[in-house]
Amino acid sequence: MIRGMLLGIIWMIYCVCSSFQQETRFVYNNFGQAGNQLHLDGGARILPRGGVLQLTNATLRQMGHAFFQQPIDYISSESVSFSTHFVSALLPAGEPSGHGMAFVVSHSTDFSHAEATRYLGVFNTSSNGSISTRVLAVELDTSLAPELGDISDNHVGIDVNSAESVLSVNASYFSDKKGRMIDIKLLSGDPIQVWVDYEGTTLNVSMAPIDNQKPSRPLLSSTSINLTKILQGRRMFVGFSGATGSIMSYQYILGWSFSKSMASLQNIDISKLPKAPRTSSKKKPTSLVLDALLGLIAFLVLGLLIGAYLYRRNLYAEVREEWEKEYGPLRYSYKSLYKATKGFSRNEFLGRGGFGEVYKGTLSRSRELREVAVKRVSHDGEEGMKQFVAEIVCMRSLKHRSLVPLLGYCRRKHELLLVSEYMPNGSLDHYLFSHERSTLPWWRRLAILKDIASALSYLHTEADQVVIHRDIKAANVMLDAEFNGRLGDFGMSRLYDRGVDPTTTAAVGTVGYMAPELTTMGPSTGTDVYAFGVFLLEVTCGRRPVEPGLSAAKRFLVKWVCECWKRSSLIDARDPRLTEFSSQEVERVLKLGLLCANLAPDARPSMEQVVQYLNGNLALPEFWPYSPGIGVLTPMALSPAPPAIPSLSLSSSSCNSSMFITHSVLYGSGR
Ligand SMILES: *[C@@H]1O[C@H](CO)[C@@H](O)[C@H](O)[C@H]1NC(C)=O
Ligand SMILES: *[C@@H]1O[C@H](CO)[C@@H](O)[C@H](O)[C@H]1NC(C)=O
Ligand SMILES: *[C@@H]1O[C@H](CO)[C@@H](O)[C@H](O)[C@H]1NC(C)=O
Ligand SMILES: *[C@@H]1O[C@H](CO)[C@@H](O)[C@H](O)[C@H]1NC(C)=O
Ligand SMILES: *[C@@H]1O[C@H](CO)[C@@H](O)[C@H](O)[C@H]1NC(C)=O
Ligand SMILES: *[C@@H]1O[C@H](CO)[C@@H](O)[C@H](O)[C@H]1NC(C)=O
Ligand SMILES: *[C@@H]1O[C@H](CO)[C@@H](O)[C@H](O)[C@H]1NC(C)=O
Ligand SMILES: *[C@@H]1O[C@H](CO)[C@@H](O)[C@H](O)[C@H]1NC(C)=O
Repeated sequence: MIRGMLLGIIWMIYCVCSSFQQETRFVYNNFGQAGNQLHLDGGARILPRGGVLQLTNATLRQMGHAFFQQPIDYISSESVSFSTHFVSALLPAGEPSGHGMAFVVSHSTDFSHAEATRYLGVFNTSSNGSISTRVLAVELDTSLAPELGDISDNHVGIDVNSAESVLSVNASYFSDKKGRMIDIKLLSGDPIQVWVDYEGTTLNVSMAPIDNQKPSRPLLSSTSINLTKILQGRRMFVGFSGATGSIMSYQYILGWSFSKSMASLQNIDISKLPKAPRTSSKKKPTSLVLDALLGLIAFLVLGLLIGAYLYRRNLYAEVREEWEKEYGPLRYSYKSLYKATKGFSRNEFLGRGGFGEVYKGTLSRSRELREVAVKRVSHDGEEGMKQFVAEIVCMRSLKHRSLVPLLGYCRRKHELLLVSEYMPNGSLDHYLFSHERSTLPWWRRLAILKDIASALSYLHTEADQVVIHRDIKAANVMLDAEFNGRLGDFGMSRLYDRGVDPTTTAAVGTVGYMAPELTTMGPSTGTDVYAFGVFLLEVTCGRRPVEPGLSAAKRFLVKWVCECWKRSSLIDARDPRLTEFSSQEVERVLKLGLLCANLAPDARPSMEQVVQYLNGNLALPEFWPYSPGIGVLTPMALSPAPPAIPSLSLSSSSCNSSMFITHSVLYGSGR
């Protein structure tokens, strides 16, 4: 018991004594609160962010010192020894870079006579080697000064009173794990741990990367250091010095622990250390990977942008040639049409005509919105396109209230786009043949027939040149907002001749509406009159010219209407859905239809006459169902043969004649 108490008292006394002996020890996990405990000069300062101690910044020929303000005194009974551990980071500010820094043990903190550059802010030319310098330094030297015996630009050295090291070695550390030395790059910007231990006459220097333990073997070990002799006394100051020269670097101390003995050295909490500000362009391997990744991303983004650009360019690509310049105002950009139709969206789809798909579009030209119909006509060849466009454009000059006006066009590769006025009520065939829509009353049908007759008469006679429509049928008759009939698609069948749509060259026009002489003589006003005759019957009877599903007697409209007449029940041929009508009018229209559909072209009336018959201004000529050519079916209707298009070279159109090389749509007015 007494022995125990005695041992305790001895232990307490030992502790008190040792605490007296080792009172000087400190640890900084950052320097945020160390401002008044450190003596700073030159470029040295504590960065407010993170409390990093900066020795030098990227300034030329700069020094910086940071010393622990309190001197470290050793009483005479005490052996002079110390142990320190610090973490530094050296960042280059260019390539090549920096001079390095040193841990300094000195008799004073006054380094005003020191030089920067190769003397690390510790020595000067005359103090080289002089014992009056009274300095021990452990240098982390990042520049090669051969005159000072430097071994490389990346070495650690022990300096005694001189910038010329007594001992130096390339920066590296002993890896206990791998059992060998591993190189360290001082100027990497990465934090580096350094340990300096002095005891007796031995000075050991160790270093390691931040995530390593203190190596079991020191990097440098000098056994002939007598610190009392160097300092010429038992009082010393400890701190750091850094210097730049003509080349610069940032030098930082992130954490520091010091003690008079290795045993009482406090640990630096690595996890609490601040990060060295990264202002350098120095690349770590990881940042190289990061850069590569960023580069890749940038590359991908660029690729995407280029792709998008090319896609857009391709999306809006057009074919525009020199000769089209004169049609400038008629030319629509594909982009505007693409936008007008919301990218030719299904929602804007109006229908499929004989020549392509039709879309509704809303164009905003000169701030006013205009509804248009855009027809996309695909074609294979550029051949004939010029003439076709010329004709289409020329047809723009055709103006009649019962024609669907063509507004303009756009050309792309393999595609022609025709812009015309939008007809809100669609095409007539929908009303005639669709059971979903209400039946058109007779008075409306008659009005539409009159509209179309007058439009066709205009094309045949009143326009500047004779225009053959070539494809009159209910599907090509459009209805405007007031339900007026408007003839559309005129001249479109011209596309066939141009070989624009080779799949349909078999039929110029539509089976059932084609006059028999079409195959031999080619299109003429007479063939239009024939088709109009069929159209008259179609509208009045509310059925298609050829209905393959019906019995042979009823199958062909022309024949069947004539049969009805022969049975003296012509009125029975009418659309059975018609309720209010004048049988006189219906019969007159049916007879006119048969007259127009006469087998013999010469026996057909002209369109001018047809207009007068329809309006009742002219009495129909006398004829019977048994008259020659009346109600006679054409072989054409049964077996459509590829028509031979004769090349009729008639000139003298008032449109620029150079545009018309072969004529079958636009004839000279002499015809
Ligand atoms: C470096 O520090 C000095 C003062 O210590 C200052 O005048 C200079 O602007 C700093 N340079 C840079 C690049 O930060
Ligand atoms: C070198 O430094 C010492 C003090 O360390 C000083 O006395 C001396 O004047 C300095 N010499 C020069 C040339 O600056
Ligand atoms: C420094 O002093 C050593 C002798 O201690 C001498 O050999 C060396 O040349 C000197 N170096 C310089 C740069 O003055
Ligand atoms: C130190 O490193 C340099 C290259 O950085 C090399 O040329 C030199 O031989 C090394 N010295 C020693 C002692 O390993
Ligand atoms: C220095 O290192 C050696 C081993 O290389 C070791 O025996 C010695 O105790 C060390 N001295 C100090 C003061 O750390
Ligand atoms: C160190 O030098 C001092 C005087 O400069 C001397 O008294 C002491 O014995 C020396 N110590 C050793 C271990 O050589
Ligand atoms: C015809 O179009 C006009 C204008 O868009 C519309 O008000 C009317 O209802 C349409 N008529 C029919 C039968 O769809
Ligand atoms: C035909 O071309 C001439 C010039 O070559 C021009 O003056 C005339 O207006 C053009 N006619 C038509 C209808 O485009």
